[in-house]
Amino acid sequence: MGGGHSARKASFDAEGEVDFDHFQILRAIGKGSFGKVCIVQKKDTKKMYAMKYMNKQACIKKDAIRNVLREIDILQRIEHPFLVNLWFAFQDEEDMFMVVDLLMGGDLRYHIQQEIKFDEERVRLYIVEIAMAQDYLRSEHIIHRDIKPDNILLDEEGHVHITDFNIATVLQEGQLATSMSGTKPYMAPEVFDTAVDECPGYSYPVDWWSLGICAYEMLRGKRPYDIHSGTSLEDIRQGFTVPISYSSSWNEGMRNILKQLLTVDPAERISTFEDLKSHPFLSDLDPQKVLRREFKPTFVPAKDHLNCDPTFELEEMIIEAKPLHKKKKRLAKQNSKRESQNNLSGMDMDPLQLCLENINDEFKVYNREDVQREKQEKKRKEKLKELQKFGEELAFDSNKTETKKAESKKSAGTSRKAADKKATDKKDAKQLDIKSSSKQENI
Ligand SMILES: Nc1ncnc2c1ncn2[C@@H]1O[C@H](COP(=O)(O)OP(=O)(O)O)[C@@H](O)[C@H]1O
Ligand SMILES: [Mg+2]
Repeated sequence: MGGGHSARKASFDAEGEVDFDHFQILRAIGKGSFGKVCIVQKKDTKKMYAMKYMNKQACIKKDAIRNVLREIDILQRIEHPFLVNLWFAFQDEEDMFMVVDLLMGGDLRYHIQQEIKFDEERVRLYIVEIAMAQDYLRSEHIIHRDIKPDNILLDEEGHVHITDFNIATVLQEGQLATSMSGTKPYMAPEVFDTAVDECPGYSYPVDWWSLGICAYEMLRGKRPYDIHSGTSLEDIRQGFTVPISYSSSWNEGMRNILKQLLTVDPAERISTFEDLKSHPFLSDLDPQKVLRREFKPTFVPAKDHLNCDPTFELEEMIIEAKPLHKKKKRLAKQNSKRESQNNLSGMDMDPLQLCLENINDEFKVYNREDVQREKQEKKRKEKLKELQKFGEELAFDSNKTETKKAESKKSAGTSRKAADKKATDKKDAKQLDIKSSSKQENI
């Protein structure tokens, strides 16, 4: 993927809107059910990012367009140290792109497959970091609905970051979610209950159940329930009636937290950070320090190799029918073909073309660099205003002092004049006295 593309000296308009041409494609690092992910470098700033891209036609076929548009919309509104944050969103004729923070430590699925079990100290910090991110999402009225090891990524220091908001939803106050969304082995009992009309809907606690399943899987190397994509709803719901077995080798506190996360009744489940942080097993993890990433994870991902399946890159180079590194040529060809045909009016378009046109209209372009610049500019203007106000106040004060000084000078002058006058009067009076006395003498 990287070779051919990196050799290409593409011209790009550094001043114009950020698009595909602003990035150097380096290599493929991930693949999910909707998107493919590669490492890219922004040509002007040289910063590295992960670029997730989804083919529009494939999304239309899977009826997943709404999800992608909603994912971009949600990502534009959020920012947190334990989330994967969005930097740019744009589209071209073939794909929709999201450029996000690059996490080089790999996803937890990859690490579970490599190591089987994680130590308790490591899982304890992951639980707290993920819980903080989930609490933030709750404050933004967002349910993630797909918390699972594949969607939890590690940065270079080993801290966790939640990604993939493809099936996330935003709840209105008092509203419940009702669609059966998620990945079966990680989905909470109330989601299945909702699907069979045994429950009116579900809410934020579903993400906390998924966190419990993930933590259990990290510690044990397998999940507490034997649920797979093919397991029937009946069997899944029956399974939840059987108590979970917790290893006696785990710390009592850890077992207790897992039990509280994996509580079938959502009303009884730990589902806020407030609930979680009061647990004695976590009492030494000061939340503010956790947020500032002051607790160092016991596992630091390897830096001497990429923490992902190497076949992603091979697949992209060998099997992919529309490889990213040949995009420019492909689009140019398509465009010239389109131009040679007559322009189609809305009436002549086939449904697929109409859908593609709709995506073009609804897609929200995003640029966090611009947002940050605007924020900085706003801050600068506010500071300037403050300084101006301060300056005016200062000038007003010094004016006041000057006036006072002038006034006191004036009054000093007046009193001096008065004193002088008094002295003259006194002198005159004295002279008069002398004169009158001499006059008297003369009499
Ligand atoms: N920001 C990132 N940095 C590094 N790898 C990533 C990043 N985002 C995703 N990946 C990798 O790509 C995979 C698929 O991405 P994801 O956003 O989960 O797509 P999907 O919606 O298709 O599941 C992830 O499981 C992970 O391995
Ligand atoms: Mg995913």
